[in-house]
Amino acid sequence: MADKQRFTSSRKLDHLHICAEEPVECGDAGFGDIRFVHNALPECDMGRIDLSSGFLSHRFSSPLFISAMTGGHPGTTDVNARLARAAEHYGIGIGVGSQRAALENPDLAGTFSVVRDEAPHAFIVANLGAVQLRDHGIEWAERAVSMLDADALAIHLNFLQEAIQPEGDHNATGCFAAIESLCLEFDTPVIVKETGCGISAATARKCWGAGVSAIDIGGWGGTSWAAVESVRASTGKTDHDRRLKELGQDFSTWGIPTVVSLAEVLATGSPVIASGGVRSGGDVAKGVALGADLCGMALPLLKPAMESDAALFRAIDAIHQELTVTMFLTGSARLEDLRKAPMHVIGKTRQMIEKDNPARIRR
Ligand SMILES: Cc1cc2nc3c(=O)[nH]c(=O)nc-3n(C[C@H](O)[C@H](O)[C@H](O)COP(=O)(O)O)c2cc1C
Repeated sequence: MADKQRFTSSRKLDHLHICAEEPVECGDAGFGDIRFVHNALPECDMGRIDLSSGFLSHRFSSPLFISAMTGGHPGTTDVNARLARAAEHYGIGIGVGSQRAALENPDLAGTFSVVRDEAPHAFIVANLGAVQLRDHGIEWAERAVSMLDADALAIHLNFLQEAIQPEGDHNATGCFAAIESLCLEFDTPVIVKETGCGISAATARKCWGAGVSAIDIGGWGGTSWAAVESVRASTGKTDHDRRLKELGQDFSTWGIPTVVSLAEVLATGSPVIASGGVRSGGDVAKGVALGADLCGMALPLLKPAMESDAALFRAIDAIHQELTVTMFLTGSARLEDLRKAPMHVIGKTRQMIEKDNPARIRR
């Protein structure tokens, strides 16, 4: 294996361990600023609440989505297999991590294809960086999708991470044109996805204009890739490593909070996946109530997925239970009802949404 390929692959394992073991969550996604109005007479049966949802012509048993995390190193196969078994068992969607390592070295394809093996009926989202799409074109997009028999392809945007990674790609030119060409030529739905800095209304309009099928906002307030890269740089000994460590710390506050990004993007179009700092079934309920089709979680599912199937299933059961109770207490028998449930938006989130998008809070 060439050095560059080995490096791409081993980085995947570093990321998994840093995310599971170090403090990589930064900021406030804004869910705490959303408060549902309690319905003291909910007039529905908690045992019959229907969590089923739809996205890109697929039906899911709940709006929970397992966000892109891993694959690309032999040590990641078990985690992907567990996440896939959960997706299959619960009838929910799942994304895989960047497939770059396996596109550079096909020997690693099994670390991703295990997801289709374990989840033959699940809605699976393949994953490729915008930079790799620009550099390798539709051929890599096709290979990424066929590696998993995927239902959609996410093109991830991670320029904050690229700016801080020692081996990062600092040239973002041509990425939008590559997304536009892909949408024109590709049969599989294309999802544009941020990875923790959020998507603004202006970027969303550009993406819908290019023909993307959906946007995953990946907002600020959850896993911070600036923090992850800062931890990676802290193991180095050079002045350059020290500088990158500080740069990562400085930029861990950079990004559009998830709830604000969600409001901005929804004002421009849909369907939308809300992700970034979604930490409970209550947050999932808030994302859906604001208008998201699905709500993605990465970090909260990583630790249980590294432990066991039972731990992961317990975590997902708890999320579904919190979502169900929230729906019950707002008198929402179905997600359509939840979308009409009254809520207050307070604090900084209210200020940020009001400035850009007053219509969103007059619900
Ligand atoms: C260990 C780990 C690896 C990730 N790798 C990828 C990736 O390869 N591609 C991608 O689009 N997003 C990746 N993400 C980002 C997540 O999909 C998600 O957008 C982000 O972590 C915010 O969600 P969270 O706050 O629930 O973790 C990764 C997240 C984690 C925790």
